[in-house]
Amino acid sequence: MADTLLILNGPNLNLLGTRQPEVYGRETLADIEGACQQVAQGFGVQVDFRQSNHEGELVDWIHEARGRSSGIIINPAAYSHTSVAILDALLAVEIPTVEVHLSNIHQRDEFRHHSYVSKAAKGVICGFGSLGYILAIQALTAELRAAKQQQMAKS
Ligand code: DQA
Repeated sequence: MADTLLILNGPNLNLLGTRQPEVYGRETLADIEGACQQVAQGFGVQVDFRQSNHEGELVDWIHEARGRSSGIIINPAAYSHTSVAILDALLAVEIPTVEVHLSNIHQRDEFRHHSYVSKAAKGVICGFGSLGYILAIQALTAELRAAKQQQMAKS
């Protein structure tokens, strides 16, 4: 069966397209999902793409990913800078994770420079707009392939 990547989006990302387009661009979240689905197909993986404005719901979805998803891509949005709960959930499930931000958080307000979530991420991609999600799919599928090859070499 094809690997599934869980792509999680945090608060206010449902407003993409109209939300501060000078920072986040004009693409909607549905546009980004469409691009992810298309690229994932090319990589032979499935994508489960979700958005929530609620921290607990994101935590629940991370827990549910155990046994279901081979990788997580997360744009935690504002929760990046506040949420120990999301960090702990990711550390608990031990699923390879890539953190994505549309904007370059290091060029922005000081409070955006730190992300709690990064501690649980294999890598962080920021500043490339929606391309960041595509790069994350590429990175995670490469990781999964390498892990499988290592596994096969051992057995
Ligand atoms: C964001 C950056 C965060 O600082 C902000 O709170 C967001 C979006 C980004 O994708 O650039 O909501 O994660």
